[in-house]
Amino acid sequence: MEVQGFRAVDSLRLDFNSPITAFSGLNGTGKSTLAQLSACAYRKPTTAAVRRYYVKDFFPVSAADPGPFTTDAKIACAYEVQGAALEPQKVTVIRASKEWSGYKRQPERACYALGFTQFIPQVERRDFSIYGGHLITLGAARDLDEPVSEIIVGILSLPYEKLGFIEVTHSARTAELATATRSGRSYSENHMGFGEGRVVYIVTAMETAPAQSLFILEEPETSLHGDAQERLGRYLVDVAARRGHQILMTTHSAAILGQLSTDSIAYLRRRPVDGQVEVTPGLATYQVDAYLRGDRAPGSRALCTEDSFARQFVTAIMRKCDRDMIAGIRFVEAGGHDQVRQSVRILQEGGLKAVGITDGDCNDIGQHGVQSLPGGQPPEKVVFNDDAVLRHFANKHSLDVRAHLAGVGDHHKYAETLARRLGLDAAVVATFAWDAYVTARPASDFDSLLHFIRSELA
Ligand SMILES: Nc1ncnc2c1ncn2[C@@H]1O[C@H](COP(=O)(O)OP(=O)(O)OP(=O)(O)O)[C@@H](O)[C@H]1O
Ligand SMILES: [Mg+2]
Repeated sequence: MEVQGFRAVDSLRLDFNSPITAFSGLNGTGKSTLAQLSACAYRKPTTAAVRRYYVKDFFPVSAADPGPFTTDAKIACAYEVQGAALEPQKVTVIRASKEWSGYKRQPERACYALGFTQFIPQVERRDFSIYGGHLITLGAARDLDEPVSEIIVGILSLPYEKLGFIEVTHSARTAELATATRSGRSYSENHMGFGEGRVVYIVTAMETAPAQSLFILEEPETSLHGDAQERLGRYLVDVAARRGHQILMTTHSAAILGQLSTDSIAYLRRRPVDGQVEVTPGLATYQVDAYLRGDRAPGSRALCTEDSFARQFVTAIMRKCDRDMIAGIRFVEAGGHDQVRQSVRILQEGGLKAVGITDGDCNDIGQHGVQSLPGGQPPEKVVFNDDAVLRHFANKHSLDVRAHLAGVGDHHKYAETLARRLGLDAAVVATFAWDAYVTARPASDFDSLLHFIRSELA
């Protein structure tokens, strides 16, 4: 999707590489703008009982807001359409004179934009079920299917006996209220907790929507307890895979972001140089951005690695060869090789000295402040196949590392597997391993890496 000229977003290209995309970032960086525009990207399927969203629904023009978008504003989307030609179908929606045009050529899909108003407690809305409470009559009731209520029970960790909806009527008006039975007592959403009500509505919508729908969620963490946010995050991953939905959300919740892969996180930030909104993937950029804004010591330096395991390697080298270096550096675990490169760029743009070290299976040769570790392989494979390391664990811990890792396919699990066997933390195993590795080598083996770090941070 390419977006041009909406609110803070002058020009931005978004690639959706995962069924879930979570827009994170500081307030006013365009998260809701992008989520709302995405909701307008499809035509309503003729058969589905859903709403169709238009740009004007989200970007009202008035005397108070003459220009929420520029005259050349546009949204260009490329769709992978099933059964169609191999080329993605491209549709651009632009403002032609006074109307938006292009909608008719969009493909069909059921879209659900679940914003804050999806569950505004009726008590605050002074809905008729409140002000006319003494006059309403109850209509048909329906229970939620058991698997659906079980999901809600799981997320909220509340022991409901029954969840459902009931029709309420007051003069000519009819509405539905969510209902719950808990510890033998029944109540409607007028007496539900805010988080409770929201989860009931979000989950019901996701479970009953047509498969492969598009969901836009505005800060789904609202009103939820931290653990419940985490479980909601896991549920969203599950339902996206199980029902084929695509989920776009805005969020400020570290608990939800923590459940998502790097591919699913789009971090939005305004570039310090020109205030333009740009997007970077992954969570580490969030830490980096926060760090840039925090009160950091002048002249501070950052070293970004992919993860803590690679950082352990770098610090083991420093402990052996140049111990004083460690104190002056802030280590950032970026989450992946692309994130290392992005983090270094963002830090440098923010006026900081920063250097990136990617794993040995990457081919960074020092450009843009990023170089790969020696060894040509992921660091876990390098260290746990090294003779000195194998000897260390055999002698000090009577552990045959090779035999123990024989059945472990994923090298990211090596340290954790050994740690469990030894009753240690994985970080301690990594420290032992890297120290054994580094000790067995002459300092000159690490000259070129240290030279690179020094020259970049000088
Ligand atoms: N007419 C305009 N021209 C340029 N920028 C605008 C205009 N109107 C609003 N903005 C910018 O857009 C921002 C709001 O965008 P949006 O609602 O997408 O942000 P957000 O990332 O969702 O923020 P939050 O985290 O607070 O929900 C405002 O902070 C403002 O800076
Ligand atoms: Mg927002």
